[in-house]
Amino acid sequence: MSKLYYPNKELAKKANIKSLEEYYALVDKASTDYEGYWKNFADKKIEWLKPYSKVLDESNKPFYKWFVDGKLNVSNQCIDRHLKDKSDQVAILFEGDRGDVQKITYQELSKNVNKFANLLKNEFNIKKGDRVVLYMPMIPEAAYAMLACARIGAIHSVVFGGFSAEALKDRIEDAGAKLVITADGAYRKGNPYLLKPVVDEATKSGCESLEAVLVVQRNNEDIDWKEKDHKYNELIANQSSECDFEVMDSEDPLFLLYTSGSTGKPKGVQHSTAGYILWAQMTMEWTFDLQEGDVFWCTADIGWITGHTYIVYGPLAAGGTTVMFEGVPTYPDAGRAWKMIEEHKISQFYTAPTAIRVLHKMGEDEPSKYDLSSLKVLGTVGEPIDPHAWEWYHQKVGGERCPIVDTWWQTETGGHMITPLPFATPIKPACATLPLPGINAEVIEKDGTPTPKGEKGYLCITKPWPSMIRTIWGDDERFKKAYFGDCVKDGEPVYFSGDGAMVGENDYITITGRVDDVINVSGHRLGTAELEAAIAEDEHIAEVAVIGTPHKLKGESIFVYAVTKDDANIEDIHKHINQILARDIGNIAKADDIVAVPGLPKTRSGKIMRRILRVLAKGEELTQDISTLEDPTIVEKIKEVLL
Ligand code: PRX
Repeated sequence: MSKLYYPNKELAKKANIKSLEEYYALVDKASTDYEGYWKNFADKKIEWLKPYSKVLDESNKPFYKWFVDGKLNVSNQCIDRHLKDKSDQVAILFEGDRGDVQKITYQELSKNVNKFANLLKNEFNIKKGDRVVLYMPMIPEAAYAMLACARIGAIHSVVFGGFSAEALKDRIEDAGAKLVITADGAYRKGNPYLLKPVVDEATKSGCESLEAVLVVQRNNEDIDWKEKDHKYNELIANQSSECDFEVMDSEDPLFLLYTSGSTGKPKGVQHSTAGYILWAQMTMEWTFDLQEGDVFWCTADIGWITGHTYIVYGPLAAGGTTVMFEGVPTYPDAGRAWKMIEEHKISQFYTAPTAIRVLHKMGEDEPSKYDLSSLKVLGTVGEPIDPHAWEWYHQKVGGERCPIVDTWWQTETGGHMITPLPFATPIKPACATLPLPGINAEVIEKDGTPTPKGEKGYLCITKPWPSMIRTIWGDDERFKKAYFGDCVKDGEPVYFSGDGAMVGENDYITITGRVDDVINVSGHRLGTAELEAAIAEDEHIAEVAVIGTPHKLKGESIFVYAVTKDDANIEDIHKHINQILARDIGNIAKADDIVAVPGLPKTRSGKIMRRILRVLAKGEELTQDISTLEDPTIVEKIKEVLL
């Protein structure tokens, strides 16, 4: 086994989970009395407006219900209940792209969220259960909007600002959104960029459910105001800063978040109120060991689940100070992130391996120019981290002092599932280690038999957990099939993550990556089916296959094999296909490699053999038998193109 890094004994004394013994004691409790285990935390952590009558209802599997009949409100959990002791504590510390800083206390957050909630009610008649789409930059108003929706029981669906008009329109329509909240623009690398024109394009036709667009004027851009548009900055001034919160049921949806799967269009992952917020809060306290006075920085965008759980809901539910950052950590220079850590005395820094690789490349010794002694815990998320990047992060950023939590989880899991505990788990580089107590993560075969140690199997969660996905918005059947259709244990369908994994020494779990047709570019999930569907719609393209191929900085990159129609006259196929991807999905879907090939390797039944395409893209020798292909000569022809 590679070297283990043991927790610091002094720091462990004050930690929320202090030792591996304490970890195993919790695991034991969960395994002897699962419901009692969760009840204990739900009772301690949540401010219930009405107690629940049952911890877990399994009568309609896999539509599990947690904390049945309980009543609560997430904005109360994140704001109001802290006002007694923490009204002057900074809740959100915002730093803009141009270095502008805002420190928003819990008292101020309360006022801003209440005003926003009143605005939604009074001006747009938004009610409990209505869907509101957010297409927002990383500004405090984005967090206010999310919490305001939670306060009045509206279901938000945040769409990442890098998605195109087409992708935004699909999401507005699928959710049946009544309102879109956006901004005129924001700043990135010192330059303004616009968001509102994308909303205009998305909503110029269709979007039947949409009644209005609310625009935050961040940049004061001279924009094209449409009939449906409303100015946030003017309307907010008239709103009262008092607003009662809606009493929500444990199982009322808190938000939708669209994510890619291996088939079809993106899925609206639906999260619940009680189970989600409980786990968001608990994992903040456990995985990051959040303590009084800590300043927590997660660099994600609020358009992803990481931004939902670990910029907004988790840190605020736990009463912490959360840093929100507009821009990129490499602007104005490679020291930006380290300077922010020094200036704001950040205690936890949570980012993606891609960002670590880029920061490393830009300055091996850059972090040592700054005082990073405030750091206590480092984290990574979203994709596998390679040992090389891990080592640099550990030595240069963490000063060989800070534990690194490699957190494995997904949009669907709501919060962390497999991760070291910073002051309890001996850390193995680039390994997610052990499931959190109460989480039954297992590596199994499709029939439920445990995969032998050291071999790759299917990563499944074999018991329901509070923050799990409840359904795919509007498509219960797809939910069942996508997550509970592949693996069984003891004859019962269990949640399959789509990832492969391996159990090694000490029962540590190493994630080996997706086993389905989903690729992971810089920690962003993209379904090859979705990319192929966009390209295949083009009149010049006869056939297309998309695969992921290893990339030094991004982890994986998009590789497109395209067969053009006989009469197609495309001068630059690279440009042509990237235009399609940018238009239909967004700039995050840009392909690095695009090759025009005479055909694709297919079985006689017409199935594209992606495995062959992956091997060819990597320039590796093909060991697979190709005699069963419909046209075995196609392999040589593709090789010639790739030369
Ligand atoms: O393949 C796994 C990878 O990211 C996928 C989930 O993507 P998404 O829903 O967009 O959520 C990303 C942020 C939680 C997983 O199925 N993944 C996530 N964390 C890790 C990871 N792969 C390896 N190591 C991780 N720590």
